[in-house]
Amino acid sequence: MAYAAFRSIGAYVPEKILTNEDLAKMVDTSDEWITKRTGIKERHIAAKDEFTSDMGLKAATKALERSGVEKDKIDMLICATISPDYFCMPSTATIIANKLGIKGATAFDVTAACTGFIYSLSIAKAFIESGMKKNVLIVGSEKLSAITDYTDRGTCILFGDGAGSAVISATDKKEEAIIDIHTGADGEYADLLMTPNGGTGSAHDSLEAESGSCFMQMKGNETFKVAVRTLTNDVKEILTENNIKSEDIKHFIPHQANLRIIKAVGDALKMREDQVVITVQKYGNTSGASIPMAINDLYEAGNLEVGEIMLLDAFGGGLTWGSALVPFSPISKL
Ligand code: ACO
Repeated sequence: MAYAAFRSIGAYVPEKILTNEDLAKMVDTSDEWITKRTGIKERHIAAKDEFTSDMGLKAATKALERSGVEKDKIDMLICATISPDYFCMPSTATIIANKLGIKGATAFDVTAACTGFIYSLSIAKAFIESGMKKNVLIVGSEKLSAITDYTDRGTCILFGDGAGSAVISATDKKEEAIIDIHTGADGEYADLLMTPNGGTGSAHDSLEAESGSCFMQMKGNETFKVAVRTLTNDVKEILTENNIKSEDIKHFIPHQANLRIIKAVGDALKMREDQVVITVQKYGNTSGASIPMAINDLYEAGNLEVGEIMLLDAFGGGLTWGSALVPFSPISKL
């Protein structure tokens, strides 16, 4: 049987930084409020002519270089995004594949908001284990600034832009394999976080008739409570089912939405501070890109050990959620 191994990581962050002080000049907020309620100090913003696919391309190029897998061996490319280059079509995945010079590989986007990277990981694992694919390139890329309403202080303080990418490959070594992935969703909570305009579900007769944009709207406080409850239960379950104790995890890498959510879940799992990876202060919430960006930070700081089991979790619009137990298994070092 083929197993799926997490081979490499890469990321890209755009140059421009938007600080809390900058936002305080745009809406009625303050650095103190944002820091206290979210932990965020700044976020990166893509240039006007820098698309989701451009950022994804840069992250994917790094992940590919580090993987030791030739790009012509990639047989599937998945892009997790809620801010695609083009709504409807073509998918951002096909654009990234073309920019990378990858021809013929299966390519599609996954819409699972902040859980997009974990959903993509689960698809890669399933395709590889079934023998249908051998090398899957996952990209989480978001230009959330393009779908953020910078007059709404409830959302504009949260989001940032960036991309992360990983190569997942077939292996026959069980010790290299992704151990388990949970994914779930509950559409009953769809209205907590949505872009109500820009789709056929909006109140307009045709998309052309819409005056509203595709800005995100969120019931933050309710989302917060559901997030903490769902994530805590889901992560406890994946650890118990796989007979792994939380103290044996070197790095817990949660989706970076809000420091208070991360801490509440970390505390419920009795995680030590040094186990919990936090990047939200510098990137804000980058949705589908946040987990691979955080893994990349660990990697580039030299803190990601070969063979260590990463515990991932995420929660996002849909509502969707997921968790994963993923050994870091680069080819070259094994
Ligand atoms: N600055 C100052 N005051 C503010 C701001 C702001 N930026 N935003 C809201 N407030 C005010 C509100 O108006 C409210 O005032 P009131 O008491 O006079 O009515 C007060 O602060 C409290 O508002 P809450 O919404 O209850 O604040 P809360 O502590 O919940 O923090 C936040 C808001 C940061 C949005 C939080 O709820 C949150 O992080 N929610 C979860 C977000 C999340 O995880 N989303 C899922 C992933 S995102 C995705 O999938 C794309």
